[in-house]
Amino acid sequence: MSKATVRSRRSCLAVPGSNPRFLEKAKGLPADQVFLDLEDACAPLMKPQGRKNIVAALNEGGWGEKVRVVRVNDWTTEWTYRDVIEVVEGAGANLDCIMLPKVQDAAQVVALDTLLTQIEKTVGLEVGRIGIEAQIENAVGLVNVDAIAAASPRTETIIFGPADFMASINMKSLVVGEQPPGYDVGDAYHYILMRILMAARSYGLQAIDGPYLQIRDVEGFTRVAKRSAALGFDGKWVLHPGQVDAANETYSPSQEDYDHAELILDAYAFYTSEAGGMKGSAMIGDEMIDEASRKMAIVVAGKGRAAGMERTTSFTPPEG
Ligand code: GLV
Ligand code: MG
Repeated sequence: MSKATVRSRRSCLAVPGSNPRFLEKAKGLPADQVFLDLEDACAPLMKPQGRKNIVAALNEGGWGEKVRVVRVNDWTTEWTYRDVIEVVEGAGANLDCIMLPKVQDAAQVVALDTLLTQIEKTVGLEVGRIGIEAQIENAVGLVNVDAIAAASPRTETIIFGPADFMASINMKSLVVGEQPPGYDVGDAYHYILMRILMAARSYGLQAIDGPYLQIRDVEGFTRVAKRSAALGFDGKWVLHPGQVDAANETYSPSQEDYDHAELILDAYAFYTSEAGGMKGSAMIGDEMIDEASRKMAIVVAGKGRAAGMERTTSFTPPEG
């Protein structure tokens, strides 16, 4: 299993790098991932100070089991190379991934991979340990998403950036995450989400949904999160502490589904074994299970295990 699939990323908390108070507060929140932002949540004049704050916050520690990510600026700006060099030279050992926004093609991912390798060699870090998270935020990025997903073995996630994406395609709405008024025949984001999910799954990567900006509307957040969770997405950005629990809950399997998945795995292992009769399919109660059931169960069990869930039932092989 790749490192990306074992990391839990149900809630990915955005924290502006320019604000030391928010950086400190984020350490205590129960988000699976934090990303310390040098891009759009950090004003241009604050970028140099933001880099310093982020290096200090990572090196101070206190992040627990969280996946620690820094979002740098995109390659069309003048800031990217300095973001990467300062952050990785200063705190590379205390960092899990670099998030690259507004990715347009595979070459942009390769460029980041190359720069990371040079820094790792220079400062004596393990080469290839720092992962890449690629944000898809415009039409050209989506059109090239397969090549982007395949561009580097460092890549762990493909992320949907709805705000920039809506601007990029001229969608007639300013309310990020909600349906554009006038579109009444389905979910206007379905194609984009599915496109990202297919590319991510083709290369063993996680698929992450982007932000919901009405931060006080936890019900709205949950409603939108449930859609991408139902499709198979692994998690969603959270912009406010109030969204963290909702994300963790929405992207975890229910206890019932988790228990059932573990049961299927145990039962299938038993029935396909010599002791269980080397069967290709078997019954659990009224349900027939086979190899495809095992594959589905692995996904649900994997998400539950990554989220630290514990099973409440066990499989007992039949007598005789
Ligand atoms: C996030 O970066 C977005 O643009 O939605
Ligand atoms: Mg964006």
